[in-house]
Amino acid sequence: MNLYKGFADLYTKGPYHFSERLVEYLPKVFGRFHIRPKKLLDLCCGDGRFAVAMAKKGIEVTGLDSSRHMLKYAKMRAKKAGVKIDFIHQKMQNLSFNKKFDLVTCWFDSLNYLLTKKELIKTFRNVSKVLNKNGLFIFDMNTIYGLSVNWQDNSPCVIQDTDKLFEVHICPPIFKRNIATLRIIGFIKQGRHWCKVVEVHKERGYRLSEIRKSFKKAHFKELGCWESLKKMTKPKRDSGKVFFMLRKI
Ligand SMILES: C[S@@+](CC[C@H](N)C(=O)[O-])C[C@H]1O[C@@H](n2cnc3c(N)ncnc32)[C@H](O)[C@@H]1O
Repeated sequence: MNLYKGFADLYTKGPYHFSERLVEYLPKVFGRFHIRPKKLLDLCCGDGRFAVAMAKKGIEVTGLDSSRHMLKYAKMRAKKAGVKIDFIHQKMQNLSFNKKFDLVTCWFDSLNYLLTKKELIKTFRNVSKVLNKNGLFIFDMNTIYGLSVNWQDNSPCVIQDTDKLFEVHICPPIFKRNIATLRIIGFIKQGRHWCKVVEVHKERGYRLSEIRKSFKKAHFKELGCWESLKKMTKPKRDSGKVFFMLRKI
């Protein structure tokens, strides 16, 4: 199934501000590790919210995503903001180009879309190849707890309900091989008619030990592991998300 196709039209109008909010916490994180990144690759940049916010701060940004539809909105957002960003249409597990970066980010559980350990390791290796020496990779992932408990508890969830849009997320009570399923159903008003969108997304949760084993294979050193980027506090047994900050060695 083609993901982030019809859903891209809902996403770009929806309350998906997660990565934009992280922008205000990053100076503290960078300060703690005495870093000032100049070149950024935003992996799985989606509709460009984080990429554009960082470009507005004067950082040279490249955005990569596997959805042409999300990239279309990302390009529109960058144009509207008057910033120049290179957008690349590619899958993160096949990432391959010549540019090098000081920082790679991957936000809003995008890495959970990798459903096998093999793909996760391959992606860490790809990120390592495009980083300068001592370059950083910061990302968040949904935990197994987040996907198996929080997703189920919050289902069904109406995300948008306006005169022109309706969007609901349903997480059926199936959690096999640490993979959760999310059924996204939406309606978008086009003229006098409503156009229906249905997408089925799958996210895999990985144990922290599996994530660590995977990035060590790609020669990354762990600088931090937190349940919140704002507070930089350690993850707990029932944390729904985890943030990692890694340095290429
Ligand atoms: C939840 S959205 C997050 C978008 C953006 N990072 C944000 O914070 O708004 C997940 C994004 O990951 C992208 N994605 C999923 N699997 C991917 C893959 N294998 N390679 C590249 N992008 C992928 C989707 O197209 C989508 O734009």
